[in-house]
Amino acid sequence: MAEQKLIKLKINEREVQVPQGTLVIEATRRIGTEVPSFCYYPGLSLQAACRMCLVEVEKAPKLQTACTMVATEGMIVRTDTEQVRQARKYMLEFLLTNHPLDCPVCDKGGECELQDMVFRYGADSSRFVEEKIHRPEEKWSELVYYDAPRCILCFRCVRVCDEGMDVKALGVGMRGANSVIIPNRQDHLECEECGMCIDICPVGALTSGTYRYKTRPWEMAYVSTVCTHCSNGCKTTLSVRNHEILRSNNRDLSGINKDFLCVKGRFGFDFTKHAERIKQPMIRKGDKLYPVSWEEAAQAAATRLKEVYDAGGDAIGFIGSNRTSNEENYLLQRLARATFGTNNIDHHRTADYTGLITALGERAGDSLLTMEQLYQSKAVLLVGNDPTNQNPLAGWQIRSGIRHHGTKLFVINSNEIKLKRKATQFVKVETGQEAAALRWLAHEEGQFAPELVEQLVQLKAGLEAESDVAVVFGAEISGASIAALVAFGSKLPGKTRYMALGDYANSRGAADMGVSTGATEGWARGGERCRRCIWRGTFRRGDCSARCFRFEIAREDALHGAWRLCKFARCSGYGRFA
Ligand code: SF4
Ligand code: SF4
Ligand code: SF4
Ligand code: FES
Repeated sequence: MAEQKLIKLKINEREVQVPQGTLVIEATRRIGTEVPSFCYYPGLSLQAACRMCLVEVEKAPKLQTACTMVATEGMIVRTDTEQVRQARKYMLEFLLTNHPLDCPVCDKGGECELQDMVFRYGADSSRFVEEKIHRPEEKWSELVYYDAPRCILCFRCVRVCDEGMDVKALGVGMRGANSVIIPNRQDHLECEECGMCIDICPVGALTSGTYRYKTRPWEMAYVSTVCTHCSNGCKTTLSVRNHEILRSNNRDLSGINKDFLCVKGRFGFDFTKHAERIKQPMIRKGDKLYPVSWEEAAQAAATRLKEVYDAGGDAIGFIGSNRTSNEENYLLQRLARATFGTNNIDHHRTADYTGLITALGERAGDSLLTMEQLYQSKAVLLVGNDPTNQNPLAGWQIRSGIRHHGTKLFVINSNEIKLKRKATQFVKVETGQEAAALRWLAHEEGQFAPELVEQLVQLKAGLEAESDVAVVFGAEISGASIAALVAFGSKLPGKTRYMALGDYANSRGAADMGVSTGATEGWARGGERCRRCIWRGTFRRGDCSARCFRFEIAREDALHGAWRLCKFARCSGYGRFA
């Protein structure tokens, strides 16, 4: 990576060093100096609409907007002079011209950027005596409401919908003091309902249909957790009152998703109180299921399992879940392998993580792609999947990379997915032909129409011209096709990293914990040497009392029923297999 050139400037008499090209507002933030802003939002295009960020720059005749001015060598900036303070106060006075003073009933009251700024920099009275322009609130969809008088026209919502989501459902209507934000279908929205516009709105102009008027921010407890939907694993903060989840957002920008949440992560929590949700175990008696206590249910399951086990253990199979936690999955496979001595265990797999780890072999440790690396990648090869719907954070990362540093996107898909519009090259194949296309890329095997071959040749050349390619694939690619994908990726220059996209919250965890016939937890396979075990151990049937619990290895050896040297690399104990 080329070294970034640093420049020096002075902010409030303090010397600051920043990379060349840094905006003055970002330079001030680096030293913890606040310059207020409304329209500026990191990652979105610059707008210079609100004029809240005005600062003094020596030798400039007038105050300058810190959000659009690039810091230069030797620049002298002042952010706390009397002139700057006055300017902030006047800007706030302007913003409040038509803004209703309804903070006590506004959803945003208590967490509103305008309210905070007025407390900090505003005047305690307004010189405007004219009647405020009023407009009725508009319902744009079940989830999005717009209150025009509260809108300060920062256009964050318009930009996040256009640039971040690539939906372009919001625009600006009218002119001057009459300007308003408008939805794409005259009086309503037709969009992905992600709620990003609601969350990014600094004031209470956009509010959420599921949360509005239910509570106040200070009445809730805030619980950090992970989204329960796709396998991207976004961090979210649930706002909870009286044990009820009222909203979900990620305003502290932590986690792999920073400020992003899709519609599922932001609004998909009402299942927790769904009337049909099963809350206690049930036992079937005849045609009906009857609720019972956990003890009763566990006892009934144990009795029946023992009967089947005694009649021949392999008649038992275990179905795990990609929605339960790692701990639960780990215990389930331990129950299957260690207690019942069976490898009959699986779950609903939507991405072949096992296939990927197997194909990568020794390289797996540093070849799996993170969400941050996906964003940073210079080129992305997307095979199958529709990230916009199935793995929205992956889609967001790809779009952000394209917008911020020109990532090139190459797509092989049998559907015209939305990301096609951002692709450098899109290769459309017949349904189910993604794997065949990969085999052609890897080994030039298979028969395709000449036009398709031409496109694949072009795609191959495009990727070969890039270094550090991110390869992202969906459930369409599994087993031998992943091996072909890795074979192709290995020939590309630079570092190629891979990401399998699973459909459910803990798809990856279920695979990691060994809830499948293919591999045990931690990806140890029968007969392989464990690289992590540091314990000496003896063995019981189907188990290793060494703490690494590589049951599968122990189990396979157990079948031979003999004393054996433990195969774990650093555990040299002998095991007795009963
Ligand atoms: S909910 Fe999402 S897609 Fe719809 S208008 Fe807002 S930002 Fe755009
Ligand atoms: S609705 Fe909110 S985010 Fe959109 S322009 Fe108005 S104040 Fe800004
Ligand atoms: S991208 Fe996936 S993990 Fe993130 S909020 Fe959406 S459904 Fe949840
Ligand atoms: S933040 Fe600079 S003009 Fe709005």
